Amino acid sequence: MCGIVAYIGAKDATPIILHGLKRLEYRGYDSAGMATIQDGQINIRRDVGKLARLQNLVSEQPLSGNIGIGHTRWATHGEPNERNAHPHMGATGEVVIVHNGIVENYISLREQLLSAGVTLKSDTDSEVIVHLVEQYMAAGYPFKDAVGHTIGELQGASAMVLISTQEPDRIIAARVGNAGGIAIGIGDDEMFVASDMPAILDHTRRMAFLEPGCMAVVSQNDFSIQTLSGESVSPELHTIPWDPVAAEKGEYRHFMQKEIHEQVRAITDTISGRVDFSAGAVFLPDLHLTEATARTINRIVITGCGTASHAGMVGKVLIEALARVPVEVSIASEFRYADPIVDENTVLLAISQSGETADTLAAMAEGGERGATLWSIVNVIGSQAMRMAAGFIPMQAGPEIGVASTKAFTTPLVDLYLLAILLGKLRGELDNERVLQLVKELARLPQQVGTLLDREPQIKRVARTLMNMQHCLYLGRGIQMPIAYEGALKLKEISYIHAEAYPAGEMKHGPIALIDRDMPVVAIVTRTRWYDKMISQLQQARARGAPIVAVATDGDERIEELVDHVLWVPDCSWMLSPVLTTIALQLLAYHIAVLRGCDVDQPRNLAKSVTVE
Ligand code: AGP
Repeated sequence: MCGIVAYIGAKDATPIILHGLKRLEYRGYDSAGMATIQDGQINIRRDVGKLARLQNLVSEQPLSGNIGIGHTRWATHGEPNERNAHPHMGATGEVVIVHNGIVENYISLREQLLSAGVTLKSDTDSEVIVHLVEQYMAAGYPFKDAVGHTIGELQGASAMVLISTQEPDRIIAARVGNAGGIAIGIGDDEMFVASDMPAILDHTRRMAFLEPGCMAVVSQNDFSIQTLSGESVSPELHTIPWDPVAAEKGEYRHFMQKEIHEQVRAITDTISGRVDFSAGAVFLPDLHLTEATARTINRIVITGCGTASHAGMVGKVLIEALARVPVEVSIASEFRYADPIVDENTVLLAISQSGETADTLAAMAEGGERGATLWSIVNVIGSQAMRMAAGFIPMQAGPEIGVASTKAFTTPLVDLYLLAILLGKLRGELDNERVLQLVKELARLPQQVGTLLDREPQIKRVARTLMNMQHCLYLGRGIQMPIAYEGALKLKEISYIHAEAYPAGEMKHGPIALIDRDMPVVAIVTRTRWYDKMISQLQQARARGAPIVAVATDGDERIEELVDHVLWVPDCSWMLSPVLTTIALQLLAYHIAVLRGCDVDQPRNLAKSVTVE
């Protein structure tokens, strides 16, 4: 999600905006910019890369004014570069915007503007907004109404802040759906607007918050809020007790906990604009996939590291089940040296949150040299893994700060589900009725994730029973086997407990020798076709005295008598159940690590992106 800061008041806006953007750096971004109005003119400074580049640019080419807007961009549409960085100005030079979110119908709006003779200067969806506002203002609408009418033409969730030389005494801010918040900071003879409180907490703790579907008009000494249909809203004023740093995590103790809880939003965003739930259609436009090319694929190799490779293991089950394409999962550090057998009918699909993991990039290079078609699922737009690929799927999870991947695991699971459906449809394996059923299941997922997250207190209680264990064995079968690996990795990397994962069916071939009362077992026993087999494995572990925690489906009446604790997850399609079982295990690992006093966000020896071999 992008960061937004705006100011209007008696002081110079420039240092206030730059300081506010600095406070938002934790969100992650790939470019930054700001604009002010001075002497009836909009001045813009923006650049790709970190804030320091913008600060240097501003010191070389100063700008000032008592009204201004600033932005840190997390690219979703258009490469990270100067021309795609915000703010964006229209054709007349009278209006400038910073925007957070996605304009889902931006392609048709771009075409509409181009056919009206408008010159578009960027690849972004955000730029179309400011041109539309200018067109309404040229038609005689006041600034606020021009913004309101423009919003009526947009589809998708947006948060936006605009200023105009035509009405330089006000900032217009608006929220449509959930695309990041808008806070209004109330100062003395000055006002602030920001996507997140840390940007303005140094100046004021008195705030009002814009609800989705509302617009604010903010002047130097006052502000008003109305719904997008024009009804006045009396704002609720808050006094924020947090210090700026703490507010970066909001009400969460760690970024990891915040990002675990952001998964409702992240999963919603990774679905956004990609499914027509009524027609039963899936769109992954950045893959450039046609029926003809889909039918030429005779094998898919999924590669990645760590958590990303576990996502690939789930992807294998999904793609083979729905598209009937053979899938192999090869961890990148092995693939790159394995003398792999690939050809032009092989797709090498790399999964990488950072898009910069050295082993994954090397695997892509190796596969590409041998003729494979390269695809990637990435979170960082403009990253190498995105640029090297012939087609890609953005995770759209927003920046992930915690070293332990959470939403950058569950969003690829959803992306792989969508890919499996698209491939299955194009290859004639899925009819429309089946696709409708599959996307209907997907539509329920965000709410099921929310239900599960509300159970965090119960999971924390189970964590307390396990916090002093020295070893732990994670077991799963079928589509849940990769989740056993992912759950064990989460526990290992943030609590430093030795956790091992095994395909449950393998226990009798050796590992069962480990089982005794000092070897707790975490078993994923959700309602899938492997359920009965898992139950018999549990009975074997139980018979040898192991303490057992099961991840089980709501309503399962057998499980409680077999285990010591149950982490309940809502009932959902077996193909989407890994999203829920993973989140239960993320929370388990998180709370065990916190109880052990570990540095959850920056675990020892680990980096967020392993850009070296
Ligand atoms: C998992 O929690 C770790 N963050 C690590 O395994 C990570 O998934 C791996 O290093 C791959 O990173 P990437 O997704 O950025 O390529």
